Amino acid sequence: MTSAVTITRHGGTGGRTAVAARARQVVKAYGSGETRVVALDTVDVDIARGQFTAIMGPSGSGKSTLMHCLAGLDTVTSGQIYLDDTEITGLKDKKLTQLRRDRIGFIFQAFNLLPTLSALENITLPMDIAGRKPDKGWLAQVVETVGLADRLKHRPGQLSGGQQQRVAVARALAARPEIIFGDEPTGNLDSRAGAEVLGFLRRSVDELGQTIVMVTHDPVAASYADRVLYLADGRIVDEMFKPTADSVLDRMKDFDARGRTS
Ligand SMILES: Nc1ncnc2c1ncn2[C@@H]1O[C@H](COP(=O)(O)OP(=O)(O)OP(=O)(O)O)[C@@H](O)[C@H]1O
Ligand SMILES: [Mg+2]
Repeated sequence: MTSAVTITRHGGTGGRTAVAARARQVVKAYGSGETRVVALDTVDVDIARGQFTAIMGPSGSGKSTLMHCLAGLDTVTSGQIYLDDTEITGLKDKKLTQLRRDRIGFIFQAFNLLPTLSALENITLPMDIAGRKPDKGWLAQVVETVGLADRLKHRPGQLSGGQQQRVAVARALAARPEIIFGDEPTGNLDSRAGAEVLGFLRRSVDELGQTIVMVTHDPVAASYADRVLYLADGRIVDEMFKPTADSVLDRMKDFDARGRTS
């Protein structure tokens, strides 16, 4: 076992562990017999708190599956997933739903905003549903961070794609979740709007201490992260710290070349 298994507590994490989420020996298989597909093949990973982690890899390598399993959106075939100290594998549906609602934020490719609600109402909707009052100071800080202060009364249809995705980012941040998961959150945006949203995600890590895990195909998007995990055939095959768009691109070319010769 790696030293990462040791859970250290230190200041600045509000008494939480330094590891926000963990996967241990996680296998995820779909189907059975001849149609059995192993989407995750014995994955061990630690997601550090207060870091921005990107997950990359070819189509079908298991990126979304890993994210869904870490976020408790999908069950595992075997192995364990922990959110902080809570083992989420094995939680009953109701508890899992509650945990997702109270402790996890999501940003999907399609923004999933309600068209009849204003930007502000969309941002606070999950908390309204949970019966929690948003912290006013925090909400103002989030709105400021994502640059939406003058768009709060607009409905999604009156906002650009980038602005809509910023609303989705603010919605994920507003409830102060322990961890935010995004599956290609900038996949539908042009490069300028994408850069805006990625900039906000980066700031939320640097200035608000947020933990983020983002699946992406885009080396530029990955360069906003602190760490890039590379998946291939359901396994984590490599990782890179302090990535740049060029270093990520080089690594991807390297994988492609090896893939062709093996
Ligand atoms: N519900 C399912 N039933 C059967 N097989 C599935 C299911 N979901 C995913 N798979 C398979 O599991 C593997 C991993 O899929 P996954 O969606 O995690 O890939 P990905 O890396 O996110 O790919 P992409 O970049 O195309 O989104 C693929 O071979 C896929 O066909
Ligand atoms: Mg996917």
